[in-house]
Amino acid sequence: MPRRVYLQTFGCQMNEYDTELVRSVLRDRGFAFTSEPAAADVLLMNTCAIREHAHARVHGRLAQWKTLKRTRPVVIGVLGCMAQNLKQELLDAHPAIDVLAGPDAYRRLPELLAQALERRERAVAVELSEYETYDTILPERAPGVNAWIAIMRGCDNFCTFCVVPYTRGRERSRPARSILDEAHALAARGHRQVTLLGQNVNSYRSPAPDGRDFAELLADVADVPGIERVRWTSPHPRDFPPALLDVVAQHPRVCRHIHLPLQSGSDRMLDMMGRSYTRRDYVALVDDIRRRGDIAITTDVIAGFCTETDDEFRDTYDLVREIEFQSAYVFKYSERKHTIARRKFPDDVPEAVKSERVTRLFDLQREISAAHNRRLIGADVTVLVEGRAKKSSRQWMGHTDANVTVVWDKDAAPFAPGDRATIQVNDASASTLFGVPVPALAPAV
Ligand code: SAH
Ligand code: SF4
Ligand code: F3S
Repeated sequence: MPRRVYLQTFGCQMNEYDTELVRSVLRDRGFAFTSEPAAADVLLMNTCAIREHAHARVHGRLAQWKTLKRTRPVVIGVLGCMAQNLKQELLDAHPAIDVLAGPDAYRRLPELLAQALERRERAVAVELSEYETYDTILPERAPGVNAWIAIMRGCDNFCTFCVVPYTRGRERSRPARSILDEAHALAARGHRQVTLLGQNVNSYRSPAPDGRDFAELLADVADVPGIERVRWTSPHPRDFPPALLDVVAQHPRVCRHIHLPLQSGSDRMLDMMGRSYTRRDYVALVDDIRRRGDIAITTDVIAGFCTETDDEFRDTYDLVREIEFQSAYVFKYSERKHTIARRKFPDDVPEAVKSERVTRLFDLQREISAAHNRRLIGADVTVLVEGRAKKSSRQWMGHTDANVTVVWDKDAAPFAPGDRATIQVNDASASTLFGVPVPALAPAV
């Protein structure tokens, strides 16, 4: 009987991608998978460390799995960023953990699991690598319209609040050739959308002698026959050469959407965060993007970073109102182990003030998003049909170029996932457009 693995993923899209890598590595070595923790021989979780809330969810799940382990022998493994960040501290807190593996250790996972399963020994692998890109492993992807491709790993930016450089190590890019081969294979398997991933995706550079930069790679992936749409995340505002903006503005299969993490609208905060741009630089980049036409801009903002004053928060609030992002993720600053901010600055904004700032930004952005979406009422939008909507099996959904969710009645038209559909919008909320399919024009006789 093959050993059965239950594998749960927390965190960002890079972690979802890594889970697909892990599935491939384990499947190759004879492991099987189950969607039932109660039926598993091995319980694995791929974890995130970006904010304290991510840690709390992992601790909660570990407590549940510990209870399961009391009733039968099961191996518990913790993978990913939190494993890498906390190492021994996590093992000490949870004696039930048998395997701990960081993001660069997944090739060794079969051996680590064997050690735990057969010899009942704890197995730990948390060395970061300067070279590992898993370039030779084809991830095991679920069928679906979208497929992730990690084009680079790690981050060298060391924004002072961020744990990622410590959990994922130094930045390294995969060769463009193998990324393009993978995109061809994905198109042949029926994936219509590819999302290129990296913690700092736009600083991508294909290793010598190829040397292709991100703008070139993006265009090349979008040229792969069968790929209808290319998305990419997450970029840093520092690396936006005009050529990249041109590809986004002009290539018909690159989504007209840029996620552009702002973090703060105050120059003192941006400087303390080590973001390397000013409020003015950021606004100039937004203007540059908008001069090239209708390109949706979304963002990330942190409220309550070390020593942030009311006036400095106000600078962020006013800038968010001025720019009118399509949408924004708003985060409460969460002090992370190892980071520069933790060593250099006091985390001194009271919790209640942080929460209030987050709520104010969230409410503001919800109004802005709703206004953006309401402007589309009466217009036609194009989506790639993805499948059933989250809330109802009678409804179908897809996303616009700008990554806004669109929902319509399934019975209204016989679409299949991967089809392109035109939907006339008749209602809108801050997060969703509702509408009816526009019948394709009959061919002229
Ligand atoms: N590489 C991406 C960031 C990934 S983390 C980038 O540079 O855009 C996603 C978002 O989480 C960040 O943009 C930031 O807004 C938020 N974040 C990161 N560390 C955080 C922390 N310590 N507290 C609160 N939010 C944080
Ligand atoms: Fe973190 Fe900054 Fe790197 Fe993004 S660019 S992953 S915020 S260090
Ligand atoms: Fe979390 Fe690691 Fe992604 S910390 S956000 S899973 S890179």
